[in-house]
Amino acid sequence: MSTISKLNIDSLRNILQASLQLSPGINLLHGENGSGKTTVLESIQLLASGQSFRTSKLDSLINDDRTTAVVFAEVASDHKIGLSRTRRQGHQLHLDGEKQRNWDNVARQLPVQVLDTSSFLLLEGGPKMRRRFLDWGVFHVEPLFVENWRKTRKCLANRNLLLKQSTTDRDQLRAWDSELCLAAKAVDCARALYFERFVPIFNRVYESLAKSEVGPLSLTYSRGWDAEKELSDVLLENRHTDIKYGATQNGPHRADVIVKSGIRLAMETLSRGQQKILVSTLKIAQGMLLTEALERHCIYLVDDLPAELDRRNREKVLKELIALKGQLFVTCVEREALQIPCQVRPEMAVFHVERGTITA
Ligand SMILES: Nc1ncnc2c1ncn2[C@@H]1O[C@H](COP(=O)(O)OP(=O)(O)OP(=O)(O)O)[C@@H](O)[C@H]1O
Ligand SMILES: [Mg+2]
Repeated sequence: MSTISKLNIDSLRNILQASLQLSPGINLLHGENGSGKTTVLESIQLLASGQSFRTSKLDSLINDDRTTAVVFAEVASDHKIGLSRTRRQGHQLHLDGEKQRNWDNVARQLPVQVLDTSSFLLLEGGPKMRRRFLDWGVFHVEPLFVENWRKTRKCLANRNLLLKQSTTDRDQLRAWDSELCLAAKAVDCARALYFERFVPIFNRVYESLAKSEVGPLSLTYSRGWDAEKELSDVLLENRHTDIKYGATQNGPHRADVIVKSGIRLAMETLSRGQQKILVSTLKIAQGMLLTEALERHCIYLVDDLPAELDRRNREKVLKELIALKGQLFVTCVEREALQIPCQVRPEMAVFHVERGTITA
């Protein structure tokens, strides 16, 4: 089970100290603007991935009057995860008392998806956002993916260094090209396999949640280089351009998921609300696939669901999320704004957040 049973937060933004006994079902956090609701969700994502969905400047998360922020969680599978972040000295991550070099083990224990007011960026943002979305799933479902992706990035970094030199060493370039092609092929295969499993699940959720709102939609995986050619040939053909730009123009680092509504890109035609429904559908489908593949439930952090969604769509999205049977964290200013559909009655804990103090 990927469920957090206990969450301690220390010195994160305006939350100086909090200890929450959580429900494996819904955890509803309500309170006024600026009270600290989103900070609670942020603490979970920070612990699960080392990132925040709000900022890349992680030091800004540490309370202004403190030097270290700490987040600790007990996971229902009996694991204990602790993260401390100190200004300038970065972070220390522990899983069951053992120091972690990276987030691989912890992220597998805590598969977390975020739905918030900037979720539309998945469609409106650049391919990086959609690659990250896709790779979240591939990471969890294809165990060898992460190693191959790291190899790919290392090859690309070295290749790009060579490309930037005034006279490119062709022998070295050839050597990095062949390593890159091996790793890139493995990355592309893992992504393509995952995508193949993902699409039918997405279509199913889309049918019930979004089709009536959004209309016909198609998803296509684009691997980052000509679908008809070997990467080695493409690298060779584009060597001059790569040298000109000092960067590799083709490869799995350019992969994308193309989301089209009819004949146009979804982001060009859909309203913000429609985009939110669509992004919710994509993320719900990922959670379903995770459960199907690993018998594991994803934890959903849902920040300010009422924003951009009318009451009917809000209820539809919430109902789908609850049906996943994973752990849900939901924030809202006024508790009444989120009515849990009465057909489903999951376990629920309600927390009131007021100026950084959280009460059950
Ligand atoms: N580094 C920091 N140190 C102290 N306080 C901070 C720091 N960073 C942010 N804050 C404050 O902490 C609070 C964070 O609130 P948060 O965004 O979690 O509120 P919220 O309850 O989600 O509000 P809203 O309903 O407006 O979304 C804000 O009042 C903010 O001013
Ligand atoms: Mg908020």
